[in-house]
Amino acid sequence: MTEPLSSTLSIPVTGPIPRHIAIIMDGNGRWAQKRYLPRVAGHRRGAEVVRRILMTCRDRGVEHLTLFAFSSENWRRPPAEVTLLMRLFRSMLEGEVARMHEVNIRFRVIGDLSRFDGAMIRLIEQAEALTAGNTGLTLSVAANYGGRWDILQAVRRLAQTRPDCLATLSEADLVPHLALADAPEPDLFIRTGGEQRVSNFLLWQLAYTEFYFTDVLWPEFDADELDRAIQSYQQRERRFGRTSEQLRGADGVQREVAGR
Ligand code: IPE
Ligand code: IPE
Ligand code: MG
Repeated sequence: MTEPLSSTLSIPVTGPIPRHIAIIMDGNGRWAQKRYLPRVAGHRRGAEVVRRILMTCRDRGVEHLTLFAFSSENWRRPPAEVTLLMRLFRSMLEGEVARMHEVNIRFRVIGDLSRFDGAMIRLIEQAEALTAGNTGLTLSVAANYGGRWDILQAVRRLAQTRPDCLATLSEADLVPHLALADAPEPDLFIRTGGEQRVSNFLLWQLAYTEFYFTDVLWPEFDADELDRAIQSYQQRERRFGRTSEQLRGADGVQREVAGR
């Protein structure tokens, strides 16, 4: 078995461009309300931004993009808004995925699918199967996703396959069962919309991720804003528990920041 991708088990290789960006796309509702539009107008605009940011990430050389589209707590919203969000997701699966396939993007959904109807699950499976062999950027859409659910489902799956190992449970046992197990952990986490919280996103996987918060509302997030986040990332010194001195090169001058 190959070594699991875990920042706590081994120090990841980093470069100037984050290999994996995870985004909480927040602020759709406020964007619409500022314009005296219904919240749903913000979600529609937000879906267009997804298309553009996906292509920008690909152009910048990002390998994995994980987008929080619907949290396990978003069911608490008014039913009409939930229905509209589901409809937008469905139209993305029906229309957008074929376009992604044309440009070699691998599409995946992470989250608890059991809450979706059969037609939606089939669309998701078809989309994943169609794009499974693609070698460009991997887009993971988190739908009915919760970080706590993710950890629990990993434990449950492990308990089913290897019940004997629970007493001595190690990270290396669990990591292969988590969502995104085949991706490096996110290097950069972006949350738009001004809130500075994780809202039950990738709780396990964000252990050593660099955080970037912006007040820009998701419908206004563009390539320049993404580049600003990447520039901020390039200034960070990713120590993974070590000291700054340890990161210095042999001449004592060169420092290992995220950008090098
Ligand atoms: C994020 O925008 C989209 C989803 C949660 C689906 P919001 O709808 O949370 O927008 P605000 O936070 O109310 O502005
Ligand atoms: C987080 O945004 C979930 C998504 C962007 C899908 P929310 O707007 O639902 O988060 P809270 O409730 O303000 O923390
Ligand atoms: Mg919000």
